[in-house]
Order: sequence, then structure tokens, then C-alpha cells
Amino acid sequence: MKRAFVIGDPIKHSRSPVIHQHWISQHGLDARYEAIHVKPSELGNFMALVRHGDFAGGNVTLPHKETIKTLLTKITSTARAIGAINTIYRDKDGGDLAGDNTDAYGFSANLDDHAPKWRDGTKALILGAGGAARAIVYAMVDVGYTDIVIVNRTAEKADSLAKEFGKACRASSFDQLPTELPEADCLVNTTSLGMNGQPSLEIDLSSAQSNLVVNDIVYAPLETALLEQARKRGMIPVDGLGMLLHQAVPGFERWFGEQPVVDAELRDLVISDLNGDR
Ligand code: ATR
Repeated sequence: MKRAFVIGDPIKHSRSPVIHQHWISQHGLDARYEAIHVKPSELGNFMALVRHGDFAGGNVTLPHKETIKTLLTKITSTARAIGAINTIYRDKDGGDLAGDNTDAYGFSANLDDHAPKWRDGTKALILGAGGAARAIVYAMVDVGYTDIVIVNRTAEKADSLAKEFGKACRASSFDQLPTELPEADCLVNTTSLGMNGQPSLEIDLSSAQSNLVVNDIVYAPLETALLEQARKRGMIPVDGLGMLLHQAVPGFERWFGEQPVVDAELRDLVISDLNGDR
């Protein structure tokens, strides 16, 4: 039996088992995907177990996304640029453990699914400058956006992220949004604002183009106030659940050798899990 894992501390909240177990049954595989609680002090021992053959690979969540780097033999250029690992797999050349980051892929695949014209845009507004923003800025640069504006409460973080990702990027502030919005093709909220239990994100989209693509990486609730406003204005709202589902695809392919699909059935399954209906 092939096995894969998701490790983190805490780990109970992870939706990854629901996604991967669904694909395992769909493909009729003799495989198992399990959530394993691994504390920072246990990470070295756990990875030794992985290295010696117990697992095909797995996912990594907080707080191990950066520290795990030193325990791997290879890191993809994407993961190096994003600065975090979320997927571990065995390199083709041998038993070596490699680390990748599939968040940028998940972000792009979600927009390809729900707003394919996003690829034609040139100007993007990215709200937030944390870990999620790094993957999304990477994806935007990769797709060829030429004016990527990083808007963050803490100016220094927006500045350093913009500098790191090169000449297509610059930093701005929430005050400047009314002047930045009219030319934007795509707006992405990567902050936790608008998530259940968090303060809401107060933004007025009235100065934006009517075909603005508005993506919120928050998926609880599925329709945030930002997405509701975009929908009511006839813009193109894209929720964050698709990014969560699509980022799981490359790992499954690598561990189990099958290409899984992100479809309505999977989406409904994860929504009912989020709603506690399981
Ligand atoms: P993640 O890995 O999910 O991106 P993170 O690295 O903790 O999480 O980043 C959270 C982002 O949400 C940051 O950009 C943070 O802004 P600061 O850099 O100023 O902290 C943003 N954020 C969180 N709470 C916020 C709030 N109340 N107002 C504005 N921005 C907020």
C-alpha cells in the first residue's frame, strides 16, 4: 500500500485528508493519506522515517513549511523563490526527498478554472504581504503581469516583498487603493481579513473596471463581503476554495501516479466538511 501524509502542529483542521482520500477512492488505489500530528521537536525523527521508505511523500503545513528545508535533499526553484515547502515527494532519480511549493500552481489553476481571462491582464493588486502573498506574487510574475502592486498594512513588509520579486512589483498602501483600482485587471485578497471570526475587509470597488477579477483566498465563508460586492457590481468573483483543491493536484500525481480532477463533487465534499456535516 502506498502511503502519504500531511504533517503539522496542530493538524486536526487540515482538509487535505478529505481531498486525497476522495481521489484515492475515485481511482480505486491501494493507498492511504493520513494526517499526522508532528511537533517541531519530532520533525527530524519523522523525516528519518519517511526517508527510510515508509511513505511516498506528503504535505507539510504550519509550523514546518520553512524548517523542513534542511531535512530535504532537493528543493524546487519554485519552492526556493516562495520560501516555503508544502509538498514532499521522492525524486525520480532515486530515493531522495524533494520539496516543492504548489500554492502558486493552485492559485493559477483556480483562476484558469473560473476566470480564464485573468492571464491577459497586466496590472494586479495584491492585498497582504505574508506567506500566501509570496506564492501569489510568484504566480503573477510567472504569468507575465507587469505591474504587481503589493498593498499591506505594514509598509516594510510590502516593500521587501516587492523588492524581492523584481521590477514588475511595487509596494503601495490601502489609502492608495482608489487611485490604483481603475487600471487593475485582477485584485487578490491574501490577508485573513473577512475570514470567519476576523475583522472584515472594507474596500470600495466603485472605481474599478467592471470586468475586474476579484479573488479572495479566504474560503470560510465561501462568499466574503469582498466577493459579494464584486458579484453585485457584475465583476468576476473567484472564491478561495479552488486554490485549496488545486494545490493538492501535483502532490497526488507525484505520490500515486494518477492525475486527479478538481470537480463539483470534490468541491461539494469539502464544503460539507467545512460545514461540519461529515
Ligand atoms: P499567510 O501565511 O496566510 O499569508 P501571514 O503570513 O500571517 O499569513 O500574513 C497575514 C497577512 O494578513 C499580512 O499581510 C498581514 O498584514 P501585516 O503584514 O501588516 O501584519 C495581513 N493582516 C492580518 N490582519 C490584518 C488586519 N487586521 N489589517 C490589515 N492586514 C492584516
